[in-house]
Amino acid sequence: MTGKQMKIVLQMVSGYGGEFKTWRLPEAKADAYTDMDFYVEMAQLAEKGKLHALFMADTPALVNDLTNETPMHSMDPLIAMTSVARATKHIGLVGTFSTTFNESYNLARHLKTLDVISHGRVGWNAVTTSTPATAANFGTHLKSSRERYGRAHEMIEAVQGLWGSWGEAAYLHEKEAGQFADMSKIKPIHYKGNYIQTAGPLPIPPSEQGQPPIFQAGPSSEGIRLAGRFASGVYANPFTIEEARDYRNALRESAVAHGRSADDIKVFTGFMFTIADSKEKALARRRAVLEFDKEELDQRLSYLAAMVGLNFQGIDPYQPLPKNWLKLAQPNPYDPRSPRALEVLKEGYSPVDTLAHGVINYHPVVIGTAGDVANFLQEWFEAGATDGFSIVPDLAHDGVSAFVEQVVPILQERGIFHEEYEGATLRENLGVPYQYGIRNED
Ligand SMILES: Cc1cc2nc3c(=O)[nH]c(=O)nc-3n(C[C@H](O)[C@H](O)[C@H](O)COP(=O)(O)O)c2cc1C
Repeated sequence: MTGKQMKIVLQMVSGYGGEFKTWRLPEAKADAYTDMDFYVEMAQLAEKGKLHALFMADTPALVNDLTNETPMHSMDPLIAMTSVARATKHIGLVGTFSTTFNESYNLARHLKTLDVISHGRVGWNAVTTSTPATAANFGTHLKSSRERYGRAHEMIEAVQGLWGSWGEAAYLHEKEAGQFADMSKIKPIHYKGNYIQTAGPLPIPPSEQGQPPIFQAGPSSEGIRLAGRFASGVYANPFTIEEARDYRNALRESAVAHGRSADDIKVFTGFMFTIADSKEKALARRRAVLEFDKEELDQRLSYLAAMVGLNFQGIDPYQPLPKNWLKLAQPNPYDPRSPRALEVLKEGYSPVDTLAHGVINYHPVVIGTAGDVANFLQEWFEAGATDGFSIVPDLAHDGVSAFVEQVVPILQERGIFHEEYEGATLRENLGVPYQYGIRNED
């Protein structure tokens, strides 16, 4: 093996991509939301490209208007992951499950069962959830961040406690001796926290990786503390290399402060892409998506104008801005995406083409060839900004194959992405230590 290599997970979103209007493109399968065969096909393709895991975000609520956009999440991540688990062999399956809107026993049971049936390929993205619509679905209102994080610590402790409650050597299933399990090794945990109480034991033996590794997403100091204590992976959404590096360093310091090694936490930076044979073709596709909704395009143009301190009223948004205008433009200090937006305008792209570059997307975006995408990933990785990426195609239907068939070989050729899975389990492939039950922090 060569030097350090990046880890890559694929975000499945709702069956389409990170752009919620790409479902109307000719390449898209319009009913992918409900088609588990399609999820399986994408997962198998990602596995062919040796991607480390599928990553499923989730908010148990309707959070966007579906009149002409696709949903932001799958119908149910647990069931999607289960469908995929039975049709794949190597790829990890990381699902997002809220620490606020779940009970510890249910969650521990679901995730450990899936970990056992997938032979140790599951990960849990433990998030606190801050969507009021989700709280309403659970008959409550959103609690303070302090309370949500207080519960998150307890939830992870309780779930890991339940996972460890069935001793590692307790599963005998010996016909001759007539002994199915060694009950002396299966013990209740009697967990009593301020938010969570559960007795246990959970009658499920360990998987090949012991138990699922924890992931975390949420960049506040409380989030960084939670990650430092428990997380093997963090899903991050910084916009610049500098911001990413600071965040990664803070996470690594937090791991050390909690008696772990800095390398025990792998940061996965969210990143979106559109791949075509040329940058012009990739931009044309993104323009077509923007033009599906003229009203929204106008809103985005106004937003872009505000980001660079200009007013676009009366201009032709398909033409580059006059040079004397650009001299007056200033990036908005309150939106970290603004400097990049101004840079693209100054390169001579029109406001519409600047939007087509994804400058106001939720993640950094690369619009271009497979080589452009590989260069971006390499630059961030080698700058120490991240350990890997959570990649989001604008549309899964052709984006996953473009990444696997065109970008992965370039990364492998450069020695910065593995050619084979390192082991059989998610922990082995991520290079994070084995753990069973609660870690002793003393
Ligand atoms: C990159 C990222 C992804 C997230 N994904 C989810 C998600 O899928 N489901 C969810 O309920 N919350 C998600 N969250 C929200 C977190 O759960 C958390 O509630 C929010 O970030 C507030 O916590 P903080 O104060 O630590 O940022 C995500 C947050 C970030 C930063």
